[in-house]
Amino acid sequence: MSDTILWYATRGAGIVTLILLSTVVVLGIIASMRTQTPGWPRFLTTGFHRNLALMTLVFLALHIVTAVVDPFTALGWNAALIPFSSSYRRFWLGLGVVAVYLLLAVAVTSLLRPVFGYQAWRAVHWLAYAMWPVAVIHGIGTGTDLRFLWMWAIEAVCIGGVLAAIAWRSSRPSPTAWREVQVNG
Ligand code: HEM
Repeated sequence: MSDTILWYATRGAGIVTLILLSTVVVLGIIASMRTQTPGWPRFLTTGFHRNLALMTLVFLALHIVTAVVDPFTALGWNAALIPFSSSYRRFWLGLGVVAVYLLLAVAVTSLLRPVFGYQAWRAVHWLAYAMWPVAVIHGIGTGTDLRFLWMWAIEAVCIGGVLAAIAWRSSRPSPTAWREVQVNG
């Protein structure tokens, strides 16, 4: 019985992590474009981006702990800490672990940004573009719930949302380039 609860908890927390992570990436892209309106100042976007990122870490921790202590998979902590060391679904779980390390690098440099400085923080923050697809592929590769239509819908909204945000960002001049255009004519 508790095995079943743990299994549901792992799946539920994984799905919530995916939704939060995708939202965080979209909000980060919107914030990076300095987008704001009179009714929606930029600090609201950055505040949501930061707080949802912290919430993502909470659900990710729940996802990992429930997966590790679930006696059915018998993962053990090594599987969660050392990429591609799991005997259970080695490749897909390995991708999950890689995503966690990339996410931690992004989170730690953001929390300690004054220590690392703007340039280093920004360089590491670009890792988010690698982390997100790795996490998505982990979920698609190892998840149980893609046999249900609702999980396809969640994947479609998450992937579609992030791709749309990237396309929107690519179609506009970066705020730095825009400033140069204004200064130099
Ligand atoms: C950023 C990192 C991660 C994200 C966003 C993530 C997200 C997900 C998602 C969306 C699923 C599919 C859930 C479903 O279909 O119901 C999943 C499955 C799973 N994840 Fe992760 N995950 C991450 C890292 C990890 C790590 C490090 C582990 C290792 C302990 C792990 C263990 C599992 C397991 C065992 C499953 C299969 C659950 C099942 O049987 O359906 N995940 N993950």
